[in-house]
Amino acid sequence: MKLCMIGTGYVGLVSGVCFSDLGNQVICVDKDDKKINDLQNGIIPIYEPGLDELVKKNINNKRLNFSNNLKDSIKKSDIIFICVGTPTKRGGNNADLSQIYGVAKELSKSINKYKIIITKSTVPVMTGDGIEKILLKFNSKNKFAVISNPEFLREGEAIRDFIYPDRIVVGSNDKKSARILKNLYLPLITKGAKYINTSRRAAELIKYASNAFLATKITFINELANLCEKININIDDISIGMGLDQRIGSRFLRAGPAYGGSCFPKDTKAITSTADKFATNLSVIKSVIKSNKNRSTLLLKRVYKILNNKVRKKKISFLGVTFKANTDDMRDSSSLTMIPTLSKKGAIISYFDPTGYKKEFKKIKNVNYVKSISKCLDKTDLVIIHTEWNDFKSLDFNRFIKNKKIKVFDMRNLYSPHKMINKKIKYYSVGRG
Ligand code: UGA
Repeated sequence: MKLCMIGTGYVGLVSGVCFSDLGNQVICVDKDDKKINDLQNGIIPIYEPGLDELVKKNINNKRLNFSNNLKDSIKKSDIIFICVGTPTKRGGNNADLSQIYGVAKELSKSINKYKIIITKSTVPVMTGDGIEKILLKFNSKNKFAVISNPEFLREGEAIRDFIYPDRIVVGSNDKKSARILKNLYLPLITKGAKYINTSRRAAELIKYASNAFLATKITFINELANLCEKININIDDISIGMGLDQRIGSRFLRAGPAYGGSCFPKDTKAITSTADKFATNLSVIKSVIKSNKNRSTLLLKRVYKILNNKVRKKKISFLGVTFKANTDDMRDSSSLTMIPTLSKKGAIISYFDPTGYKKEFKKIKNVNYVKSISKCLDKTDLVIIHTEWNDFKSLDFNRFIKNKKIKVFDMRNLYSPHKMINKKIKYYSVGRG
């Protein structure tokens, strides 16, 4: 099939490359000329394990093309995925849909034959209705179908998530487009992926509901971790004990810092704001947002306590600053709250991240990027394991840190408290007494 992905951000690029790998002819379009030029030369703008190999392979196979010519790419394609950003609007909780509707306007003038137009971007319920309205201004109803096909890819695991999805959700209001979409996904369905066909509005809501639910699960376990700390119970035991109940499930029950990234913070806000418009109070999700916002302050208070409330001139080493492992994404990472606050209090911070230097800390006083774990841990007063990269999972702290009073605050519970105590390390973790 001939596909066009509009927007070569995370969603558009990964999905486009994976669709081309399944044998489709794909054009990935973006108005950013430099990005397109780089991609044509196999230079990938995001950090995603395995993506560069797939891009190169499919460019060589001549199934994957990159272009900055939107009109031409639309004309050449049968199925068009809208994959542009839907960030939170400034000063509010609503999703900013200007890019989505901008693309819809461009599309409305370029439909030369039957096209299936799909939103893959996360869009509030009834955005599909809005797109349809724009397209109808210049086109008759039988010339196009507007479908919602949300993506559930996780950063760092995106290729695997595309090939082995838990489910594929397609929201279409007509049979013809639904049939074509099922055909497109057939290679994954035959491998066992569950395929659900719903109404367009339901598909739009499934995406928000899923992210909001996962954010709720994390927040739930994080709050329980607070309780466990007070009564000397290991939160990991609680997660295992709860997770074995199939109605609950074990995933996304890892306590840690506040959840971050480009999706959960944005989508929890957007779904509550949509519900407010329809006079429905999603109070559970609202308190999740609030609790998550407080989480960084709470963990900072523990840092102060660990340092006996003497933060000034203390050397603090951050291992990992991205919002999670296997990504270079800093969006809404809790390190963006913690590091500047500690710097204001006079701490001297060094950080190491496997994805390198972060411009976000450029202007923050006494914050330095170091190129190796050993340099980061040199003569430190406190190590904070912020992100769960494999690189940090079996460190010999005694070898790295010459200071005899080694303190480690493991915000991801990567180490066993028992073993750390045996090594004479003052070890602190999350929800483990
Ligand atoms: C999330 C969803 O998991 C994807 O299904 C969805 O497609 C994507 O958003 C999106 O809407 O595009 P992602 O933001 O890449 O994916 O990251 P997650 O792996 O979900 O992690 C989000 C945050 O939750 C991270 O800060 C992570 O550290 C935290 N987390 C996750 C926990 O604290 N505990 C857990 O048990 C799991």
